[in-house]
Amino acid sequence: MNKLLAITWLCCICIGASLAAELPEDIEKCRFGDSPCFVRTLNDLIKRYPKGIPEIGLPPLDKYSFPDTSVLDSPHRGPIWMTFHMRDNVHKGFNNATVTHVEGFLQDPTKQQIILKARLPRLVHDATYDMQGRFMLFVMNTTGKLQSDFQNFRLTLTIKVILEYRNNKRYLKIYDMVPVIDIARWIVWFDNLYKENEDVTIALNNSFNKHWLEFWNDLEPALLRSFSAGFTVLLNTVFEKVAYDDMFLPDIDIRIGYRDD
Ligand SMILES: *[C@@H]1O[C@H](CO)[C@@H](O)[C@H](O)[C@H]1NC(C)=O
Ligand SMILES: *[C@@H]1O[C@H](CO)[C@@H](O)[C@H](O)[C@H]1NC(C)=O
Ligand SMILES: *[C@@H]1O[C@H](CO)[C@@H](O)[C@H](O)[C@H]1NC(C)=O
Repeated sequence: MNKLLAITWLCCICIGASLAAELPEDIEKCRFGDSPCFVRTLNDLIKRYPKGIPEIGLPPLDKYSFPDTSVLDSPHRGPIWMTFHMRDNVHKGFNNATVTHVEGFLQDPTKQQIILKARLPRLVHDATYDMQGRFMLFVMNTTGKLQSDFQNFRLTLTIKVILEYRNNKRYLKIYDMVPVIDIARWIVWFDNLYKENEDVTIALNNSFNKHWLEFWNDLEPALLRSFSAGFTVLLNTVFEKVAYDDMFLPDIDIRIGYRDD
């Protein structure tokens, strides 16, 4: 009986180990907390794998699809209200990102928050939008395509993680992410914004693009929530597949030799 249990247990470990995904071999592994190495490795990963790595859950960086989001959601009553939802969201341009700064990823990753900074010359967001609203007598109920172009996009992610244990391995899970975004300019095009009259659509487009900074300031909290959801899904997918310790070189403590904890 004991033997049977032992064999079952061994099988479980073997299956577990074979399921655990590994980073590609051509990607340099770093020691815990080695910030310059993380910057090098991440930039190398982005350059070599713009189409992503399905085995480890890394989506295509040149065309990243992320969850539906709601930018505005006011109650449908009164003379002025508006709801604005986006679906079929795709971000293009992460393949051109340069990681400039990485902090954290210590042996115990919960000890210090993780900070990631990156810069993209251009981030293009394609989506289908559903907009409904009322502005006095003017009623809107539109579905159309939108394209949003964030120029000189600078991103800082501050991430808090917890550790989960599976098959004797440690896995990261994000429980809080705060994004900070700076852009040099925002260019937006809404297709079909006012379907009764193309001229109105063009006028609204011109007005939006002229006053982009005010719109950005107003919409930033909602857009940040959308970015945060997108990045959390992206990173958690990778963290769920690749064990934390498998992302790094084994921690060697000279005093006691190889430490495996
Ligand atoms: C990313 O860089 C490539 C090569 O320079 C370019 O063709 C592509 O348009 C860039 N992507 C974006 C979204 O700007
Ligand atoms: C908006 O339009 C769709 C179809 O075009 C319709 O089904 C829906 O009831 C409309 N909603 C409102 C609030 O008018
Ligand atoms: C939208 O407006 C901007 C700014 O006026 C302009 O550069 C752009 O060409 C317009 N887009 C379309 C498709 O009309």
